[in-house]
Amino acid sequence: MEASAQIGVTGLAVMGRNLARNFARNGFTVAVHNRTPGRTKTLIEEFGHEGTFVPARSPQEFVAALERPRRLLIMVKAGEATDEVIEEFAPLLEAGDMIIDGGNAHFADTRRRERALRERGLHFVGSGVSGGEEGALHGPSIMPGGSAESYAVLGPMLERISAHVDGEPCCTHIGTDGSGHFVKMVHNGIEYADMQLIAEAYHLLRDVGGHTPAEIAETFREWNRGRLDSYLVGITAEVLAHTDAGTGRPFVDIVRDAAEQKGTGRWTVQTALDLGSPVTAIAEATFARVASSRTGLRAAYRPLPGGRRQRLDPDVAGRFTRDVEQALYASKVIAYDQGWTMIRDAAAEYGWDIDLGAVAKIWRGGCIIRAAFLDRIRAAHAATPDLVSLLAEERFAAEITDAQQAWRTVVATAAHRGVPVPAFSAALSSYDTLRGEHLPAALIQGQRDYFGAHTYRRTDREGTYHTLWSEPGRLEVRTDGGA
Ligand code: 6PG
Repeated sequence: MEASAQIGVTGLAVMGRNLARNFARNGFTVAVHNRTPGRTKTLIEEFGHEGTFVPARSPQEFVAALERPRRLLIMVKAGEATDEVIEEFAPLLEAGDMIIDGGNAHFADTRRRERALRERGLHFVGSGVSGGEEGALHGPSIMPGGSAESYAVLGPMLERISAHVDGEPCCTHIGTDGSGHFVKMVHNGIEYADMQLIAEAYHLLRDVGGHTPAEIAETFREWNRGRLDSYLVGITAEVLAHTDAGTGRPFVDIVRDAAEQKGTGRWTVQTALDLGSPVTAIAEATFARVASSRTGLRAAYRPLPGGRRQRLDPDVAGRFTRDVEQALYASKVIAYDQGWTMIRDAAAEYGWDIDLGAVAKIWRGGCIIRAAFLDRIRAAHAATPDLVSLLAEERFAAEITDAQQAWRTVVATAAHRGVPVPAFSAALSSYDTLRGEHLPAALIQGQRDYFGAHTYRRTDREGTYHTLWSEPGRLEVRTDGGA
């Protein structure tokens, strides 16, 4: 077998197959392999005309087809399957060869694999790939980690097959080891928040505004022509406009209201708790999916009283729709800011040199959260490289200021009418928490010191203190040895 392929793809389910096709369509010779050979055969039969493929019937043939340094893209289910495929191929490779994992692996697994393979002289590149099967074929957003040396070889290829916005690839070297998969995980966490916020806006327009799914679809189409212009808002209009052929009812009314999740949103929240990153909107969006699926709990709560379930008068409903747009946008800014804070926190924790503006740049196209809004985030970071928050940028701050009344009216109206808006509320409360001058955390410190002697700091002087709550006079003692 002549070693002629610039890239090899093993794992030819939809994503792997479409990435292989994308590479071939872009002029690369692509070696293709699948554990069950039938998939390889089908790929060649159906798409062999799209470019130069080298089908391989075994791992040995697959490796032999690859030019040096060999580049193997594995597209298999995250978890043990990835470790199995790595062990199947690593012994066949030579120093300098590289294995790319394009699945949704947990970044900690990627850090472990990168370290282990580096010790064997191999490069391991964990790469986020966002955009689903259409994105994989026509141009995804690609978030590779790994060594700078591997990106020098892989980068031009990945940039060529990625989506492009304003002539720029939606692919960049995120940083070392697991940073690529970490950033993809946060992308998915933001995706959860974005989807939940959109769903809450829909719920409000339906249950409070009294609009039909078709009318709300039109509202989302209008919003998609403005500052909420995004893939998710666009597909929401399509989903809401869709009618179920079998019943003639709105599609959204025949779908069971229990949201599922493959796990990347959950990982985001778990990791955020470890990092101390307050991703409250992402967390509430993840828990909203969990709660929607708890049929037993929901049955127990269903008979209980709620808010004042009545529709707005038509002349007020129009104003409410405009308020919901403001609330959706303001909440989206907070959710995205939380995601960026988490990436910044992880970069500091793991020693990654991540260009936060570049992350926004490559998310402008190809990925599920692609949106015009991301160009605003890119520009904000370009203008102020050490930007600590989007709300430190004057235009975002002005938009949040303008949205105050509407945002609060929408959250209050939802509460009064018993419409759950966990992500809207979390975003607003996160905003109020971070801008708050006197938080009730002071009382919590007092409680903790009372029952656990966990000490506290004072507002008026340095040091840590404990009050002798169980003794007469409840004297305060300094506990850090200072005078
Ligand atoms: C993407 C998507 C994708 C995600 C699936 C399922 O960026 O292309 O985020 O990676 O895993 O859409 O996501 P959930 O099942 O977690 O909703």
